[in-house]
This record gives sequence, C-alpha cells and structure tokens, in this order.
Amino acid sequence: MTIDNITVEVPAGTSILQAARTIGGDVTPPAMCFYSKLEGSGGKCRTCLVEVAAGSTADPRPMPKLVASCRTAVMDGMIVKNITSEKVVDARNGVVEFLLINHPLDCPICDQAGECHLQDLGYDHGGAGTRYQFARRTFEREDIGPYIQLHMNRCILCYRCTYIADQITNQRVHGVVDRGDHAAISTYISKAIENDFSGNMIDVCPVGALTDKTFRFKNRVWFTKPMYAHRDCENPKCCGKVTLWMRGDEVYRVTARKDEWGEVQSFDGKPGWICNTCRFDKKHASDWKVEGVAEISRHSVISQNKYKELVMPEETIQKVLDGRNPKVLLDIHSVSQVNDPDRRLSEIEGPAHSDDFNNPSSAK
Ligand code: SF4
Ligand code: FES
Repeated sequence: MTIDNITVEVPAGTSILQAARTIGGDVTPPAMCFYSKLEGSGGKCRTCLVEVAAGSTADPRPMPKLVASCRTAVMDGMIVKNITSEKVVDARNGVVEFLLINHPLDCPICDQAGECHLQDLGYDHGGAGTRYQFARRTFEREDIGPYIQLHMNRCILCYRCTYIADQITNQRVHGVVDRGDHAAISTYISKAIENDFSGNMIDVCPVGALTDKTFRFKNRVWFTKPMYAHRDCENPKCCGKVTLWMRGDEVYRVTARKDEWGEVQSFDGKPGWICNTCRFDKKHASDWKVEGVAEISRHSVISQNKYKELVMPEETIQKVLDGRNPKVLLDIHSVSQVNDPDRRLSEIEGPAHSDDFNNPSSAK
C-alpha cells in the first residue's frame, strides 16, 4: 500500500494507522483514542481521518468519505493520502475545533501540558479563536481518591481509561454515562481507582482529565529529567520498568515508559503496565536501579535540555576578559533568600504553594 507517496508492505489485516506508523514521521496520522495495547480502542475521536484515493488493486475506486485510519484495514494496492490531502487537513482542523469546543484552554495550569496530545494537535491544527458562543460544559467536582485527579471538563471521551479498567483491572466499575453534551465518565470511577493498576489510566489519558495527584502542581514536566529505572516488583503483573521524572536527586513522578507514539512500551511482547506501588509509593531514587536518561521524542517540549551526553560549549569568558579569571560574584541562595535549599518539594503534602518556596526567614 502507499501512504503519501511512500510505499510499504505490511501483513494483511493491519490498519492504515499501524501501517503509517511503520513509516513514522509526519505521514502518521495523530491518534487520540486508538491505543494499540488496548483491545477495541479507536473509532471515537476522528483525529486519524485519512483519504483513501484507491481502495485496492482489484477495486481502485476511491472511498467516498474520509475514513478513520485506526479502524480501517489496508488492502493490497491501497493508496492513502494523509498530509498530502487538503480534505484531510481541513477535516482535522474541524475535528480539533470540535474537540476544543468544550475543552478548557488551561494549559498554563494543567499538569498534562508538555505531554498532551490535544495541546500538540491544537498547535498543528487549532484556530486562533473560537466560533462557539455557548458556555463550556462544567461538572460537579468529584474526588476519586488520593492518587488520581479527575478534571471531567478536560475529558474528550476517548474511552481509553474504561478499556484499561476492563482489560487490566479485575472489574470495570466505571464508564461513559449519558450521551451527547451530557456524556461523562461515570461516578463509579472511584471504585476502579481502588484497583492496584488504576494508575495506568493516567498514562493512557491523552489529555489532562486524569492526572497524578502526588505530582500535581509540584513541577512542570519539562523542568524534570526523565530517567529509565527498574526494580524487582513483587506484583507479577507489573513490569517494574519505569521512567522516573527527577529533578536533582528527587523523584517527582513515576510513570510507565512511553514509546514514540505516547503509548506504554512493550517488554517481551507484553505492554509494560506498572502497579500503583511502583507508581505512587516508590518516590526515592534509592528504591530504583537507575539505568540512564530516557529517550524523549524531539518533537516534545519535554525534550528540552535532555541530552544523553553532556557537551559543554567552549568557555570563552577568559578570552573576553583578556586572560583574567572571573570571580564568583554571589551565591544565589544566600543573596536572594528566595529558595530554601533544604526544602524537598517532591515530598511535601499536596500541591506546592508560595510558602513552600519562600525561605521562612525572608517571609514577612
Ligand atoms: S478521562 Fe481521559 S482516558 Fe478517560 S475517556 Fe476522558 S480523555 Fe479518555
Ligand atoms: S484514533 Fe482513530 S478515531 Fe480516534
């Protein structure tokens, strides 16, 4: 089959999206609801729409409408257009506008910022303003336990978290209730949260609707340094291989390891889900065997300053100062009195506030 003029060979039954992923780069359609490790996912969000210019060698007629690439199987000789189709780009702009009708633009205070697929889509396809004139949806705030924060107004109803509950916890006790404008993740989510693997819902949520309470407001993700680490977890279903999001020697957050499509990596052919003990209770570097800096895709803001090797630029200050050595002028902590160097932000209870940053001696 051919996608955007690039020809690939894939096994029969492969979806167009998976075939495009074998090529990678821009020809791969974005996917907000499809998740290759979750059976039955896909077909909900329409961000992966593509144009089929020729159905197959046997029947080369074009398909009359754009199709969801995550749910359409390839055919021998199929010709698909993604970024080379104006219709697709136009439709994707429309889908993003539709998703953003109700989604708040609170990226500056959202913990998912920097690793949010909708934020990336907004940059690629979003309009500068909204045409929507009604009030956005709002929901009663619901506390779903000590580990996961639910922001229902950010949910795009991709159903991934319900598939997680269905497929990797013992029993699914939450789901999408109601339809249309009233559709919401149901009130019974609090029961699913008690399960040992509930934290994986955070990892699969493509937006900031489900975020990690133990990391909430403690740091921006691009200020932290992702490190691959592992431990011998007693839970047989847990792969024990994680990414530690560190700053200095503090562990701020633990997540499953992600691949280039934002999905959990597979180990020995199995998805690398992690248990809640590894995710929420092992927050010391000493709990882990740290392997090294995590691979982070360069398209993401998180990749800023994340280099495997330290390459120091040539120091030119001595040349500038005519051969003299500069003197250290000040120690920022003792002079500014803003930060308390002994305060470990990753260990404070709840979100960080200004009190946690201010040195008590300088607080008036
Ligand atoms: S909470 Fe997140 S994972 Fe669950 S349906 Fe909403 S957007 Fe999808
Ligand atoms: S990723 Fe295909 S419809 Fe959502």
